[in-house]
Amino acid sequence: MSEAILLVGGKGTRLRPLTSHTPKPLLEVAGVPFLTHQLRRAAAAGVTRIVLATSYLAELFEDEYGDGSELGLRLEYVTETEPLGTGGAIRNAAGRLTCGPDEPVLVFNGDILSGVDIAALREGHRAAGADVTLHLTRVEDPRAFGLVPTDDEGRVLAFLEKPETPEQIVTDQINAGCYVFTRAVIDRIPAGRVVSVERETFPELLVSGALVRGVVDDTYWRDLGTPAAFIEGSADLVLGAVDSPAVPGDTGEALVLPGASVGQGAVLCAGTVIGSDAVVEDGAVVEASVVLAGARIATGSVVRNSVVGRGARIGGHCTVDSAVIGDGADVAAGNELPPGLRIGCGVRLPAEGIRVSAGRTPCSELPRAVHV
Ligand code: GTP
Repeated sequence: MSEAILLVGGKGTRLRPLTSHTPKPLLEVAGVPFLTHQLRRAAAAGVTRIVLATSYLAELFEDEYGDGSELGLRLEYVTETEPLGTGGAIRNAAGRLTCGPDEPVLVFNGDILSGVDIAALREGHRAAGADVTLHLTRVEDPRAFGLVPTDDEGRVLAFLEKPETPEQIVTDQINAGCYVFTRAVIDRIPAGRVVSVERETFPELLVSGALVRGVVDDTYWRDLGTPAAFIEGSADLVLGAVDSPAVPGDTGEALVLPGASVGQGAVLCAGTVIGSDAVVEDGAVVEASVVLAGARIATGSVVRNSVVGRGARIGGHCTVDSAVIGDGADVAAGNELPPGLRIGCGVRLPAEGIRVSAGRTPCSELPRAVHV
């Protein structure tokens, strides 16, 4: 028996409006809810029982996965009435673990796509007799992240806030959002209040002399928390740049789910996914995008690096670039959207609502409804 906790209670504010009524881990990435990729990877690494720490839109998780038997897992659900933060959620979920105090427990953030060897992380933790083992990844530009320097033996030296000056960039190693805790360490996290593992639990463990290890692993890693990363992560799965046993089809330029329809001369490329019952009409081009179930892209439109929400409509001859189109939104024919636009769920953008080429409408002057 090997147990894990998956943190899935966040509000996913950076992905609004997609997360207005779907929790981030249940948004479809390469054709299945993102969480399915994580659950299948965990199962493949020998994890048998997972406690899902839910909060925001909690009931939707059990509706999707039930007892987990279809995935070969035993799933338990714990709900925080008020979000307790990452540490508080781990502590709260621990009440449902069955393992003893010396056993390793894997903990995953619910929005990380990675190729890390989960079983090796757990076995390395056990062999080292560590209190906590963190998966660390290296990033080119560490300025947006908390830094985690380690010594030659992999012992974590500090947890540093986001660097503000070049001198503060002492390492390119960052917390990759996947941990192994010895169970007894979780039981010592204060119960019933908001706790951040990154800002409170880990630094306190260092002060107390605990053995906190960092394992740097340079396989694929991406935090899918922003629209750009979400779209890139999905495209990488479709293209096969990262392996997942959950991708429902062969990897390649595009993944077209059952029930979707693609017209003559339409071009799907760069890791695009077309959701079930979605329609791409003749001559449309969809590049590196996530088109969710039941959406429709009309003839002659070009959609690039974007998410088109469930049941959303893109009229003919539109240009959509780096956009997030909410569920059920309706973009009338002929619109050329300024890059990076987010359109709220159910919002109707009228014909000629935004024309970049004809006079460059500044975002501040766009109809209020298109802002999230
Ligand atoms: P943003 O609002 O866009 O920052 O996203 P988020 O709410 O998911 O927050 P963040 O990306 O920092 O969270 C990292 C992981 O921890 C995600 O898998 C979240 O679902 C999860 N998480 C964050 N806060 C909580 C919480 O209070 N309770 C639980 N159960 N999970 C949480």
